[in-house]
Amino acid sequence: MKTTTSDMGRNRTGVATSPIDSADITQEAQKHPPSHLGDSSLIGKVRQIYARESEGLGSVPPPASLKGVAKTAMDAIKGAKPTVFIDKLAARLAFERSGTRLYEAALVKFDVYGGWEGGPTREGLEKIYNDELSHFLMLTDALKTLGADPTAMTPSADVTAVVSQGLPLLMLDPRANMRQSLEALLVAELTDNACWELLIELARGLGHDTLADRFQLALDSEVQHLQWVRGWLAAGVSDEARAAMPTAEGRAGAQPRV
Ligand SMILES: [Fe+2]
Repeated sequence: MKTTTSDMGRNRTGVATSPIDSADITQEAQKHPPSHLGDSSLIGKVRQIYARESEGLGSVPPPASLKGVAKTAMDAIKGAKPTVFIDKLAARLAFERSGTRLYEAALVKFDVYGGWEGGPTREGLEKIYNDELSHFLMLTDALKTLGADPTAMTPSADVTAVVSQGLPLLMLDPRANMRQSLEALLVAELTDNACWELLIELARGLGHDTLADRFQLALDSEVQHLQWVRGWLAAGVSDEARAAMPTAEGRAGAQPRV
């Protein structure tokens, strides 16, 4: 099992590995230039055609209950477009659900690779896992209170899922150790913080003050998550950078526990 992140090894991906072959390749490429100038204007035109024909990334479903119909009508009377709030709530719900899965995977990494001085602890990861899960449940409740269907994939939920699809890929890659996996958690926590801020602003603007207060509590814990993950990662990177030679134990994210 490869455990450290930046050791020198037999990496042959760069051209400098084989000066003779790379010179040959360059020479051949110069002899046979591409038939087209090769800028992105043509593919840009094709993308424009698709974008103009597109019908968008789905829609927000109508309220799932009579109570929802009434609330939607109330928001509309106040001059707000109620679907925007529902859409953003659904996106946050989808992200918190994925966040729970990310920390579930992080706990597996921790049990294999362990922590380091100033790095993650099992208790810390479990705390964040529980917070993400409680945020997901709170959002489910919020959507139900508004008469919306919390299982619906709305356009913003779709956007969130597409944007963050690399995060589980890294977390579930058995080759990525604990320190490397923290890079995914950092992206998730940065997004969490920014999106909760936006949701609170939106909720206050629409007069959903009770919800906004609950969202503020979620943001308070997200601020702590971000602080922890940043600190863990920074400690791991400097610990590894300080290590002159890798040893069997004691490197950032390197010590297997099984
Ligand atoms: Fe978080």
